[in-house]
Amino acid sequence: MSIYLDHAATTPLRPEARDAWLAAQEIVGNASSIHGGGQAARRVLEGSRERLAAVLDCDPVEVVFTSGGTEAVNLAVKGLWWARPAGVDAIVLPDGEHHATTDAVAWLAASQGAVVRAVPLDPLGRIRLDAFAEALPGAAVATALVANNEVGTVQDPVALAAAAARAGVPLHLDAVAVLGHLPVSFRRWRGDAAGPGGLMAVSVSAHKVGAPVGVGALVVARQVSPTPLFHGGGQQRGLRAGTQDIAGAAAFAVSAELAESEREAEARRLSALRDALADSIRSTLPAAAVLGDPLERLPGNLHVLFPQASGETLLFLLDQAGISVSTGSACQAGVAEPSHVVLALGRDEREARSVLRFSLGRTSSEADIAAVAAALPAAYERAVAAR
Ligand SMILES: Cc1ncc(COP(=O)(O)O)c(C=O)c1O
Repeated sequence: MSIYLDHAATTPLRPEARDAWLAAQEIVGNASSIHGGGQAARRVLEGSRERLAAVLDCDPVEVVFTSGGTEAVNLAVKGLWWARPAGVDAIVLPDGEHHATTDAVAWLAASQGAVVRAVPLDPLGRIRLDAFAEALPGAAVATALVANNEVGTVQDPVALAAAAARAGVPLHLDAVAVLGHLPVSFRRWRGDAAGPGGLMAVSVSAHKVGAPVGVGALVVARQVSPTPLFHGGGQQRGLRAGTQDIAGAAAFAVSAELAESEREAEARRLSALRDALADSIRSTLPAAAVLGDPLERLPGNLHVLFPQASGETLLFLLDQAGISVSTGSACQAGVAEPSHVVLALGRDEREARSVLRFSLGRTSSEADIAAVAAALPAAYERAVAAR
């Protein structure tokens, strides 16, 4: 028995993505070459860019392909900060962001003189909008998750972008956890911002929608030119030098289209399964508490605090039973850290080590949920005894 409930970490490859990837690999040619093979590669690349742009609701020229979500976030956060006007050094950073963001910002602060303005979350994981708006004036860049990848809480991207536009601060939104689950619309989120501020960049990653790992994209508004991380052949508006991965782009485009076409039906199906799992956990383990926003949350996300148990022990016990879940937090040398997201909700360190994230996706079924619900009580009892 193998039950996979860690779709937020990565989701299985779609057959259509594999086919598109293999077909593109057959093309011999660099998309920058002038000969026929190069032009064939370019057609696949630019076609994929157009298709992804349609899903993300932006212009094709705004799509910059990267090696994944981490690179996209780094290009946005570092690149926009490096390109800042003289005399502004602050980065507005909500608590509980993904490590791609927090570690990029920490590096800018430690080595480049960036000043971090932290913005608290409320106990449900919502960014405190008043504090966000207060932190903005005079900042070089602001960044935020559209949905938290651990606890699943969804923010209001339009409100965040409007606040940044009013303050004249460029904003990056990390939509990696959102693509395929909620609508991603660069145009709608950005609104009619005309000045130097507002939504300027959005990160997405291919392996979260069923394409291979190692491909992502940053939507970069025409109005901005973040300083590139790489220098080289000047590809992609000079923002991301390097021979372009046409197979990765083709697989990403087809997966993003499929995820988008299935999105509404899948969101309904997955939230129903997720709610059924939550109900079963509540009835068999009354001490457990669901964290995150009960209403504004990712459809396939269930994040649970098991107060007397170590999340890591529970994870191992479920793994032995053939069930893959996550504590959601980073691993350092094989040891799970207390979740910085759970700490940001105002919980203590013990609680931040007592959580599990169940993330459902395309392959999740009622049978999966029934099996997890059946396995959890015994695993919980053993984990409590082991603590
Ligand atoms: C919210 C969020 N941002 C960024 C990333 C990094 O994306 P990638 O794995 O493509 O580097 C992830 C991946 O877990 C994520 O969940």
